[in-house]
Amino acid sequence: MKIDILTLFPQMFQGPFRTGIFQRAIDRKLVGVNIHNIRDYTHDKHHTVDDYAYGGGAGMILKPESIFEAVESIKPDISIEEKDDELPVILLTPQGRLFSQEIALELSKYSHLIFICGRYEGVDERVREHLVTDEISIGDYVLSGGELAAMVMVDAVVRLLPGVLGSEASSLDDSHSNGLLEYSQYTRPAVYREWAVPEVLLSGNHAQIAKWRREQAIIRTLERRPELLDKANLNLEERRLINRLSTSSYAREYKGQNWLNK
Ligand code: 6GU
Repeated sequence: MKIDILTLFPQMFQGPFRTGIFQRAIDRKLVGVNIHNIRDYTHDKHHTVDDYAYGGGAGMILKPESIFEAVESIKPDISIEEKDDELPVILLTPQGRLFSQEIALELSKYSHLIFICGRYEGVDERVREHLVTDEISIGDYVLSGGELAAMVMVDAVVRLLPGVLGSEASSLDDSHSNGLLEYSQYTRPAVYREWAVPEVLLSGNHAQIAKWRREQAIIRTLERRPELLDKANLNLEERRLINRLSTSSYAREYKGQNWLNK
């Protein structure tokens, strides 16, 4: 996958893509990330990227010219009216659709993505109308610019690419990948400060363990993010479990101790 990021602050991207699984993905050529400084696509002496809003009002607006030219230099055959379905041009903005694991998965299917990081008080509307194919926000709060949002999205997308994570299975168990939060995890020691790991996990019974984990994921989701359960893929038995749990104080008592003996 090729990723191009347009920004006024390229130095912000120095750290995140040079660590951990990301660096490894770049080294193995599974992904290539290019950071472009929008200012490099200006033609005037002062490298002007913003200007006052027509009609007045506080704050500067990002001018269209350098953004268009940057995108067109990345993909020279983008014609202005004819947007290319094969190449998402994504504007990061708090007005966009809300980013989610589902959108990360959707974006991970493309071979090329372009991100435009908004800044200042806004971006000239013609960029939205004639260049951008998608607008995405990472949450209902305001950031100073789209840069951190771009890093969040690129991280979430790249870890879904085949071969990026050590084992193919490991992203399937993640919170949100099945519409549920992840089950509780334990490692050694089996008893720490008198707090024991749930017995079922030491049992070696893989079917029981899978069942327990699935139930833990459902219970955790019910407690913390009940609205997620509406969209989760649950069978009839699991729906019944939720009904039982949500109509009693059972959930808190059901944390897993003696689960095999219940
Ligand atoms: Cl994509 N940009 C900005 N500036 N703020 C945000 C955001 C994006 N997503 C949430 N808040």
